[in-house]
Amino acid sequence: MSVPCVRVAREDGERARQDLAAAELIDDTHQIEHDEGWLYIPVVDPAAVPEGLTVVEHDAPARETQTMPADLVDFDVSYERIGDVAIVDEDDDERARALADAIVESALPVHTVLNRASKVKGDLRVRDWEVLAGDGNATETVHREYGCEFAVDLAEVYFSPRLATERHRVAEQVRDGERAFDMFAGVGPFVIPFAKRGAETVGVDLNGTAIEYLRENARRNGVADRVTAIEGDVRDVAGKYEDWADRIVMNLPHSADDFLDTAVSLAGDEAVLHYYDIQHEDDPYGPGERAIRAAAQPEYDVTVETRHTVRSYAPHELNVVLDVRLTRV
Ligand SMILES: C[S@@+](CC[C@H](N)C(=O)[O-])C[C@H]1O[C@@H](n2cnc3c(N)ncnc32)[C@H](O)[C@@H]1O
Repeated sequence: MSVPCVRVAREDGERARQDLAAAELIDDTHQIEHDEGWLYIPVVDPAAVPEGLTVVEHDAPARETQTMPADLVDFDVSYERIGDVAIVDEDDDERARALADAIVESALPVHTVLNRASKVKGDLRVRDWEVLAGDGNATETVHREYGCEFAVDLAEVYFSPRLATERHRVAEQVRDGERAFDMFAGVGPFVIPFAKRGAETVGVDLNGTAIEYLRENARRNGVADRVTAIEGDVRDVAGKYEDWADRIVMNLPHSADDFLDTAVSLAGDEAVLHYYDIQHEDDPYGPGERAIRAAAQPEYDVTVETRHTVRSYAPHELNVVLDVRLTRV
């Protein structure tokens, strides 16, 4: 459609654009176009364009404005994305439906909307979902995080995108050739990036479906040769890997302390333990640190290298991590 545009030589374009933007004259509903050495900048009021700039009629395509869920409902919206699935947490049925409709109608590339229908529960840490929008396979998706792809079925396995930054922080410490053991591996969000950095990895999980996804994710990310995925209770599996690990991940925050003896048995002469915990804000690191010392000393020197709050978990409760170096005495 033909609209008024300022036409400038390409090399003068950025300065003209900035001047027009400062004067709030740019028409955001149409695209700026390049054509044969000229730049065409759509303007809202040709009469207000400063002298010295030429206004012409030009066929500038309409700009697609991105409609977001918040544009379509009249309440504050909150949702999380895992691949093409959107997760909401709404108790009110009417709001849940309105939000699901808004998400599907919006420009977001989302095909399924799930409402949290329970807390994560049991040993497998899986939650129930109410499917608000989507088809029969609504809970399966592929999530991308820091260059890795994770296939995941949210109805069958634990997965949280909220830990992405934390996982990346840990993955950046991994060195080529080291041996890393994830005691509670899920679909592999630690194991896969570790293997991509050249580590030889072992991931264990009680949940057979998570282990199938871990194997699939190892193939998907081209690291199957560096990933061993084992279904079972890590306490039963650990015997095969005694004194093996340079790095151990323990992301089972409510009960990791029950598994510290197993973690210590996995550690080689020198190992770093990433210990996730949920504790009261008054002493978020103390209980974990004391439990690790009790399990590892006197066989190992224990040095806490990092005390870090990952996120707030509940009122006055924090999800924290300790990076702890174990050095055999
Ligand atoms: C909080 S999830 C963490 C999964 C993954 N590390 C992540 O960050 O997404 C804990 C995982 O531990 C597994 N799990 C629980 N008890 C276990 C045990 N005794 N041995 C091995 N895995 C266990 C659960 O099935 C679940 O997948």
